[in-house]
Amino acid sequence: MAKVYVFDHPLIQHKLTYIREKDTGTKDFRELVDEVATLMAFEITRDMPLEEIEIETPVSKTKSKVISGKKIGVIPILRAGIGMVDGILKLIPAAKVGHIGLYRDPETLMPVEYYVKLPSDVEERDFIVVDPMLATGGSAVEAINSLKKRGAKNIKFMCLIAAPEGVEAVKNAHPDVDIYIAALDERLNEKGYIIPGLGDAGDRLFGTK
Ligand code: PRP
Ligand code: URA
Repeated sequence: MAKVYVFDHPLIQHKLTYIREKDTGTKDFRELVDEVATLMAFEITRDMPLEEIEIETPVSKTKSKVISGKKIGVIPILRAGIGMVDGILKLIPAAKVGHIGLYRDPETLMPVEYYVKLPSDVEERDFIVVDPMLATGGSAVEAINSLKKRGAKNIKFMCLIAAPEGVEAVKNAHPDVDIYIAALDERLNEKGYIIPGLGDAGDRLFGTK
């Protein structure tokens, strides 16, 4: 069964408070999302395998550990997932980035796929699918379906804010996918927005309405 990790680190929680605040403007919102993505990437990469190599310090030879050539793919769900990519790449700069474009139909709340571009070696990579919001879970479930259909085997899902409904949906559809969250909120409202949430992540990141 999928594991759910809530990152309650004080720095993440502090920054998330200002991300939620409605008067936080686009520039600060963007910077804060980027910073939280970096902090979450630090936690999510905790299980990366290491190998020992021989090096020489100025005073002696020694064996020391480096990340063993793990191939990582970061997959933002367009649009809002883009806001988390640079923050992750600061820690894993060699990762490849694929894109899955989905929007929620405002009437049905069902995800509609409009774009998919992935690294060519999908089967060999470990993927981190990122989106700031996990609301009904429709977009995340569909993005993961899309990745699996193309051969992906190891997938993690990372978001800033999740509703319990979204977590259940991903767990049920993809029991092999662990979920990493900065905050688990109360519920969804009648329009499918997370309460208290942060509003529309895409609009706040890109300054659209
Ligand atoms: C938002 C958000 C997620 C989705 C979450 O995207 O970024 O992708 O909604 O909702 P769900 O869990 O109910 O599917 P949106 O559809 O508004 O598109 P955008 O990123 O282009 O603004
Ligand atoms: N998408 C958002 O951007 N915000 C929500 O609260 C729910 C879905």
